[in-house]
This record gives sequence, C-alpha cells and structure tokens, in this order.
Amino acid sequence: MIDFSRDSQPHIIAVANQKGGVGKTTTTINIAAGLVELGARVLLIDIDPQGNASTGLGVAAEARKATTYDLLVEERPIAEVIQKTGIDNLLICPANSDLASADIDLVANEKRIFLLHDALHQASVDHLGLDFILIDCPPSLSLLTVNALVASQSVLVPLQAEFYALEGLSQLMLTVRKIRTTANPGLRIEGVVITMADARNRLSLQVESDARKTLGDLVFKTVIPRNVRLSEAPSFAMPVMQYDPSSKGSEAYRNLSAEILARHPLASATVKV
Ligand SMILES: Nc1ncnc2c1ncn2[C@@H]1O[C@H](COP(=O)(O)OP(=O)(O)OP(=O)(O)O)[C@@H](O)[C@H]1O
Ligand SMILES: [Mg+2]
Repeated sequence: MIDFSRDSQPHIIAVANQKGGVGKTTTTINIAAGLVELGARVLLIDIDPQGNASTGLGVAAEARKATTYDLLVEERPIAEVIQKTGIDNLLICPANSDLASADIDLVANEKRIFLLHDALHQASVDHLGLDFILIDCPPSLSLLTVNALVASQSVLVPLQAEFYALEGLSQLMLTVRKIRTTANPGLRIEGVVITMADARNRLSLQVESDARKTLGDLVFKTVIPRNVRLSEAPSFAMPVMQYDPSSKGSEAYRNLSAEILARHPLASATVKV
C-alpha cells in the first residue's frame, strides 16, 4: 500500500468573492492543476450548488454519488465523498444543487458554521497526504462561504478587472474581519488576483493600478489575462494546462501557482537530516 502520510497538515485556501462570474472557479481549477504540476497533492472542495468546478474537472452529474452536501449536512466521513479526477494527485469533493438548501437544512444546527472545518480536521484527512485543499465558493457570503472561511487558513480573492471590482471587495474584507474576531482568528488574506485583464484596455489597467495602490503586496504579481482557452477548457472537462498547455492562460495560472507554492513549500521539499 502506498503511504501518503506527510509530516505537515495541508494548507487550506478558500477562493472567494461574493460577486458572480469573477473567475473563482476558473482560478480554483487551474491553481489546483498548477500546484499538482509543481508536485503537490491537492483536494478541491466544490462548495457551490452550481457545481461548476465538478463539471470543469469532468465529474459528470450522475457520477456525483456523494457530495459536499453529504459531507456538511449528513456529516458523512470525508473519505466517502471524495473522488479521483482524471489528473493524478488531484482529488475532488463534488457538489450539486442539493447544496442550495444547506442554509435552511442547517438553520437549527448550532455547529453550522464549523461543519466544513470539522470535516477537514478528521484524522482520516491526514491519510490522504494532501499538500493543499482549495475551496471553490459560491457567489455569496452565505453559510456556505462562511463555512469555507471558517475552515481555511487563508482566502484568495479573484478580482475581475472592471469598474466596480474594488467596491465589492470591502464587503468581503468586512466578513473576513468578522470571522477573524469570532470563529477563525488565524484567517489570512492569501492574496488578490486580478482576472480577465486586458492590457489594451485603459479601464482594466486602471483597476489593476488602483488595486495595487490600495492593497499593496496583497495583490499577486501574476495577472490573469482574458484568454479564450480558459473559457473553453471546462467544456472539455480539463484544466487549461491540459487543454492548451502553451496558452497565455496556462502560463498565467502556472505563474500564480508558483507564487502560492513559494509561500507554502511542500513538506516533501523540506530537507530532512
Ligand atoms: N481569464 C479568463 N479569460 C476568459 N474567460 C474567463 C477567464 N476567467 C473566467 N472566464 C470565464 O468567465 C466566466 C466566469 O468565470 P468563473 O465561472 O470562473 O467565475 P466564478 O466567479 O466562479 O462564477 P460564479 O460566481 O458563478 O461561481 C466563465 O464562463 C469562465 O469560463
Ligand atoms: Mg464559480
């Protein structure tokens, strides 16, 4: 039997922004694949009732026998809900529309904001030998996103290069601050990544420059360009690195993955003497 056990716990990152369509799922799928390319073992948790990350990684609706709903609401053990994807070392906990009723189903559950946290801190998670757990959040600050933020060490925020981008950010930061003062004092901002940027568009450049002025080093050096390959890849059920490895989208997400890995080196990369 292969022993995947590692010395350290996986780094847990929520990919969140309550604004819809800003590139959360695209970012989650492609940094998951980028980190795997760089030698990591990754679990992607789809906590969005839309199930876009599950579809994008080729887990068809009928193959979602157990889902994040079962993990949170039925409290099924994590080993029973995760599945392999077509990519070695990339596992997924898929989601479907069942999750849409989680808010209501959990209303009387006193632990309701800790359910994902508790699921990810089961001893069996250690045996998966994970380096990273990435959580693809829905476009809201609902109970599902709160569960992701309570369970995570950090939050990565995709920011679409468009006019109202920074306004929505203050609401998210307020939520992060609230969670820090209550359920998860250690929650950090992993960073803000500008998505769908267009270097020929003045507004896009302005958003990037404003974000760097306001947020400083919190903004990743890598900027994700608008690239049609990134929007095509999910319909082929692949991360962009597989669909078109030499595209601008692949290059950008590889660079972003390297920036993340530089901050959280793999346990296996630690020299042991
Ligand atoms: N850099 C990009 N270049 C071109 N298209 C992109 C890029 N990033 C995302 N897209 C496309 O934009 C749309 C929204 O992206 P995505 O689904 O990743 O956003 P999201 O924030 O997860 O959306 P939701 O809030 O609905 O979950 C998708 O059709 C996706 O393929
Ligand atoms: Mg999404």
